[in-house]
Amino acid sequence: MARILSMFLAFFVASAVIAAPLEQRQLGNLKCNIDRLKIVTGLIATASAVGKIDTSDPDTATAVEAAQAGLKTAGDSIKDIAIALITGKAAPPESRTGVSQGLNDTRSALESITNSAVAPAVSAAQTSLQDAIDDGNAVIADCK
Ligand SMILES: *[C@@H]1O[C@H](CO)[C@@H](O)[C@H](O)[C@H]1NC(C)=O
Repeated sequence: MARILSMFLAFFVASAVIAAPLEQRQLGNLKCNIDRLKIVTGLIATASAVGKIDTSDPDTATAVEAAQAGLKTAGDSIKDIAIALITGKAAPPESRTGVSQGLNDTRSALESITNSAVAPAVSAAQTSLQDAIDDGNAVIADCK
């Protein structure tokens, strides 16, 4: 998961570098590109935090799987957005919905964990996830 997301991060950096001379508008909106980088790093941090939740309890294991599936949905949608940007197209609206849906699914899955033994790890994952959600909202606000 983290490896795949690192690849997206590389995509974003590459797209910013390649796109800059071609498309001055993208270079101009630095805040938007920083937001994009932050959501990718936020997802990497969340995936890492979710991976630290002890899954020896079966209910916790099921919820962690659901949280990871949500992160994958968000990551796949970010990949689609990155490819669109690299090829000079507008980000597809359904990919933005996919990012939001994936993050929401991850949030619901983490909220469903009632095992108090893993509460600190769940709480850490929720904090990372909230940061990623905030960054996602900043992308929507700043990338016009
Ligand atoms: C995710 O949750 C937020 C806040 O509850 C909501 O505004 C948004 O529409 C949800 N996204 C999707 C794709 O359902």
